[in-house]
Amino acid sequence: MAPRPIIIDTDPGQDDCIAILLALASPELEILGLTAVAGNVGVDLTAANALKICEIAGRPDIKVFRGCDRPLEKPLTIAPEIHGKSGLDGADLPPPRMALQRDHAVDWLIAMLMGRPDRGTTLVALGPLTNLATALCREPRIARKIDELVVMGGASRALGNVTPAAEFNIHVDPHAADIVLAGGIPTALMTLDVTHQVLATRARRDRIRDLGTPAAATVARLLEFYAKRERVGPDGVPLHDPCTIAYLLDPTLFSGERINVAIELAGTHTTGMTVMDWRRRTGRAPNCLVFREVDHERFFALLTERLGRL
Ligand code: RIB
Ligand code: CA
Repeated sequence: MAPRPIIIDTDPGQDDCIAILLALASPELEILGLTAVAGNVGVDLTAANALKICEIAGRPDIKVFRGCDRPLEKPLTIAPEIHGKSGLDGADLPPPRMALQRDHAVDWLIAMLMGRPDRGTTLVALGPLTNLATALCREPRIARKIDELVVMGGASRALGNVTPAAEFNIHVDPHAADIVLAGGIPTALMTLDVTHQVLATRARRDRIRDLGTPAAATVARLLEFYAKRERVGPDGVPLHDPCTIAYLLDPTLFSGERINVAIELAGTHTTGMTVMDWRRRTGRAPNCLVFREVDHERFFALLTERLGRL
């Protein structure tokens, strides 16, 4: 069976790094390119980090593009308190030898998608949705070129992680999220409700370290840095972004429902909230498959096995 062609939009970020490494370690997927966006840190750093991640995996062939440097309307909010000043603190990675591609990520996204068959490409969004929203506004026809958009973002019962109402990726650029959810793309939403069940405990982090490869050692160091800053419960480090790739590799790991999700844009306390119509009160058509449950034991078995291949 031919590998599934995917594009990953990302703001690395330690958890983005693990997601991208999982994808690079999985022959079921063909990465057409990485598009960097401002989010966890500025876009110059997220682009450089994307290059570094490809080099961790020994994949200098992967095309990396620099994208939008700020949200559509809000000023940029970054998260160095979680990811460090570089966005990939913890691993002391050398400057990348690979070079960025010359095209702007949005220009490449449009040209690449418009040159491919309808429903012929999967998009994975690991950061704020600024690149994708900008591309959709410029060329709405890309929507039918995408068979599925898998987004790490939003929250329902887990509440927000930046404000009580909003998750980081949506909070940074709620206007982009609003445009994307209205874009007519089949969308799966991996929210904090699920990623807070996928916790890299001490034992799980040790199992990754004990793989004994250079890539696994780098991941282990990144996780130790991240574990000091991003915690759920006494020993849990939530692996948000890798859940999207794991879903592509094994959809049976996750379960959810198709519901309507709207983005709050004008709330005094709730801007960036993903308003989830679980009880179908609004009459608005379902626009997202929203996940609620995950088999975290099988998730970590998959992640650890694949990281061991790098
Ligand atoms: O809220 C978690 C999300 O925000 C993850 O994608 C993390 O990398 C940050 O971008
Ligand atoms: Ca991210």
